[in-house]
Amino acid sequence: MKVLVTGGAGFIGGNFVHHMVNKYPDYQIVNLDLLTYAGNLETLKPVEDKPNYKFVKGDIADEAFIMDLFEKEKFDVVVNFAAESHVDRSIEDPGIFVQTNVMGTRVLLDASRKFGVKRYHQVSTDEVYGDLPLDRPDLFFTENTPIHTSSPYSASKASADLFVLAYHRTFGTPVTVSRCSNNYGPYHFPEKLIPLMISRALADEELPVYGNGENVRDWLHVSDHCEAIDLIIHKGKVGEVYNIGGHNERTNLQVVQTILKALDKPESLIKYVKDRPGHDRRYAIDPTKIETELGWKPKYNFDTGIAQTIQWYLDNEDWWKHIISGEYQNYFAEMYKDRL
Ligand code: NAD
Ligand code: DAU
Repeated sequence: MKVLVTGGAGFIGGNFVHHMVNKYPDYQIVNLDLLTYAGNLETLKPVEDKPNYKFVKGDIADEAFIMDLFEKEKFDVVVNFAAESHVDRSIEDPGIFVQTNVMGTRVLLDASRKFGVKRYHQVSTDEVYGDLPLDRPDLFFTENTPIHTSSPYSASKASADLFVLAYHRTFGTPVTVSRCSNNYGPYHFPEKLIPLMISRALADEELPVYGNGENVRDWLHVSDHCEAIDLIIHKGKVGEVYNIGGHNERTNLQVVQTILKALDKPESLIKYVKDRPGHDRRYAIDPTKIETELGWKPKYNFDTGIAQTIQWYLDNEDWWKHIISGEYQNYFAEMYKDRL
């Protein structure tokens, strides 16, 4: 079986490539990535010499290139992780989110149709459902929750999902979609909350908490997300959407306090800063469908997962220090200039 993984030099795609290359030595895993600021080939070092792994640099939205690649490689399965993924960046520059997340998905769908791909899997997000109120802990996102987006990022992801589902209905393209909650774990780019706070706390720098820190996210260890996608591409029903989440809700403040405690750093590092415009209040996934239909169960809870993750950042300083010493410095100065 030949599997195309797009965005495999990013955080979740990289973890998924590791998972697939190691678990299925008989499969061919092709990793296609444009290597934007978020793509990092150092993440692939542990697998780069394996005989069942290959890297290709390219843009999912480049139609001629994608058609050539599909014609040559004859993929059985496509798993599309490639995306612009950071909400704050989508507020600064929505255009690239439409280009990659919507146009790129359309190109992959057309190539999958044309070359008879047996399964196209779209890696989507719980953000397509918008947010839940903070005072209704009884409410959760199910697969039937209406799409109701808040940011240019989530609007682009929702738009892509609609194309994927429309291709199934109109052309019979064999698709599945997964919508996962917030991931954390190894190789997470240090612009996102958890790795940003770990790397800055280790350097005794201020920790910028947006608004009052009461917004809630539902955290899932990346390896549990990878297991879920593995199950969906092998056993999931064509045309279906699967929510993925492990009931690990925390306020942002609780997450930051947990990190500070684990690193033995003072809470005085916390700095409340200007809120994110349109900031979603709470995400919370109901994973009943994937649990009952496919037998998925997460291995980590937040306490065990965050401990493993913090240890990984302590053991792999080279990986993230390399990133924050370069271009990312300019990003931080620009993004937080009116906040800190
Ligand atoms: P990431 O930003 O770490 O990685 C994205 C990867 O896509 C990078 O390697 C980048 O180089 C590549 N890429 C970007 N544009 C491309 C293009 N035009 N062509 C080819 N490659 C391109 O993102 P992530 O956090 O790993 O998220 C991966 C996917 O999972 C995204 O689709 C995201 O929407 C979804 N998702 C993320 C989370 C999360 O918590 N991070 C949760 C649910 C779903
Ligand atoms: O829910 C899934 C989504 O999770 C994915 O689809 C996105 O790709 C991924 O980036 C993530 O989106 P969030 O916006 O939830 O993640 P982020 O790490 O940017 O922020 C998490 C929370 O922390 C959010 O409420 C904003 C807050 N925050 C974030 C940063 C970067 C801060 O308070 N300070 C910060 O500096």
